[in-house]
Amino acid sequence: MNRRAGNIFRRASRQRAAGRLTDVTDGIEHAHALDRTIRVLSTGVKRVLRPGPVKDALHGVPLGHPAHPPLTDVPMGCWMSAAVLDLLPGTRRASEALVAAGLAGAVPTVLTGVADWSALHRGQQRVGLVHAGGMAVATVLYSASYAARYRGRDDAGRALGFAGLGALLAGSYLGGHLAFRQAAGASHADQVAHLVTLGWHDLCKADELPDGWPVHRSLGYISLFVLRTGDEVHVLADRCSHLAGPLHQGRIVSDDNADLCVVCPWHGSTFRVRDGSVVHGPATGRQPSFESRVTENGTLQVRPLG
Ligand code: FES
Repeated sequence: MNRRAGNIFRRASRQRAAGRLTDVTDGIEHAHALDRTIRVLSTGVKRVLRPGPVKDALHGVPLGHPAHPPLTDVPMGCWMSAAVLDLLPGTRRASEALVAAGLAGAVPTVLTGVADWSALHRGQQRVGLVHAGGMAVATVLYSASYAARYRGRDDAGRALGFAGLGALLAGSYLGGHLAFRQAAGASHADQVAHLVTLGWHDLCKADELPDGWPVHRSLGYISLFVLRTGDEVHVLADRCSHLAGPLHQGRIVSDDNADLCVVCPWHGSTFRVRDGSVVHGPATGRQPSFESRVTENGTLQVRPLG
């Protein structure tokens, strides 16, 4: 086989391997057999995790982005470092400490992951469930690895650690698929502010807007949530930053400071209508908001707030 033919063969093999991986993840996304388990688990999580400050903290509302992804760095970093040290002589104590630190870091990682998982679309929940299963296997294996090392059975501890690393990498692959291909955790509204050109844009006649009742209006191909309350008009991107739910179908409520808020009809994220800030998750990203004014001829104009 000449060199060019060899390169083509290797490239085709790589593409086949990548195709097989995405076949697996596509299969998980459509694995309806998982749905019963998902229904039971997510009902249980929602019963235990009631709306409030703890749930908001687990979602990452105070951080402005999901708390789960950065927390995964703790167990993953510790356990991968332990695997490297396990290949070197004289590092027994350091490896053991890293395995233990990874186990401690797994606790908040699991809690934040469970909270986020309970408010996802079904296809995302299927991938999330298998991702969690892989991580659970990894955690069990690392727990056994720590117990073996603690008892002085270092060879068994190392072997269990490497087995845990395999499960960790498989689970992480699915976590990456969930975050980047299925866009769980990413803001689904952030791009709106960049799609609207600078300056004022005519939206509709102000007097056609009902008072106190949100409606949907289109600015080109962008969907907007519009709420008129007396002489004031509040305008936000309509697609919820959590998973793109239609905010104009949401409930209007007041927060503790009597600020008007909209509650997303899909998973209950709550945003202040005056600036799109998040009051309650699962959304963590601010909803893009627009400044509004009414011209002399009664046309409502909007422009993105910087
Ligand atoms: S789409 Fe999930 S809360 Fe809005």
